[in-house]
Amino acid sequence: MTAKILDGKAFAARVRAKVADHVTDLKRVGLVPGLAVVLVGEDPASQVYVRNKGRQTQEAGMKSFEHRLPADTSEAALLDLIGQLNADPAVHGILVQLPLPGHMNADLVINAIDPAKDVDGFHISNVGLLGTGQKAMVPCTPLGCLMLLRDHLGDLSGMEAVVVGRSNIVGKPMAQLLLGENCTVTTAHSRTRDLPEVCRRADILVAAVGRPEMIPGDWIRPGATVIDVGINRVAGADGNNRLVGDVHFDSAAQVAGAITPVPGGVGPMTIACLLANTVTACCRTNRLPEPEGLTA
Ligand code: GUN
Repeated sequence: MTAKILDGKAFAARVRAKVADHVTDLKRVGLVPGLAVVLVGEDPASQVYVRNKGRQTQEAGMKSFEHRLPADTSEAALLDLIGQLNADPAVHGILVQLPLPGHMNADLVINAIDPAKDVDGFHISNVGLLGTGQKAMVPCTPLGCLMLLRDHLGDLSGMEAVVVGRSNIVGKPMAQLLLGENCTVTTAHSRTRDLPEVCRRADILVAAVGRPEMIPGDWIRPGATVIDVGINRVAGADGNNRLVGDVHFDSAAQVAGAITPVPGGVGPMTIACLLANTVTACCRTNRLPEPEGLTA
């Protein structure tokens, strides 16, 4: 079997177009969704992410507010800024780029964000709402994975889903979302006994461990849908760096029914879902109908 390639780049472009349509509708009633992104320090990867987020926010017709603070900013000053953004009616979404410098308590900072503006879905209230099946702000990467899965498979009810990885950002919320879709969900991790056999159970396999090409084709059930969240930079044979996922793509593509590539799979969906969450937050705050197709 040769797997169907799930083109996240093309899908993300469709999500962004849908977001832009909703923004146009919101502008007709006098609302411009606004996203504030806060970056503390000069981490090069974070700077690239933040720049891309700002550009795509503006391209979707929304307002982008960027706050760049020096690495030695005090936690109190950051909390003060978050308080101002919480109170600002032009700001519907707030994202504090992680990781934060070591002298800051990331949990404290994230939990200072108004949960209604928490477009990352990291606030403890949103984690609790998602875990209890209530309306939440949903973390962007798992939301993007869910959109890809629904688009490819339709109804996920009754399917065996295995999520490899238990991070707060991807693995745990992904498992909650799949439970919400009536999948039978296993969350596997580095201590899981006989991980290959657990993976082979999966109709849906989500790999989010951050270990390059850890999952080979012979761990995959024939015909399974494989979502590879990993983005790992490794040295190629030519001496240049290349990006690979957590799944060994070439062997997996021989067995799977469908698979997301790296790059061009899940990656582009994350910012698209951040924009979608900003529109959702704007609609909820203003008691307007939820944007269709952009929420969990
Ligand atoms: N750093 C890497 N990914 C993310 C993300 O999704 N949200 C935030 N806030 N920081 C990140």
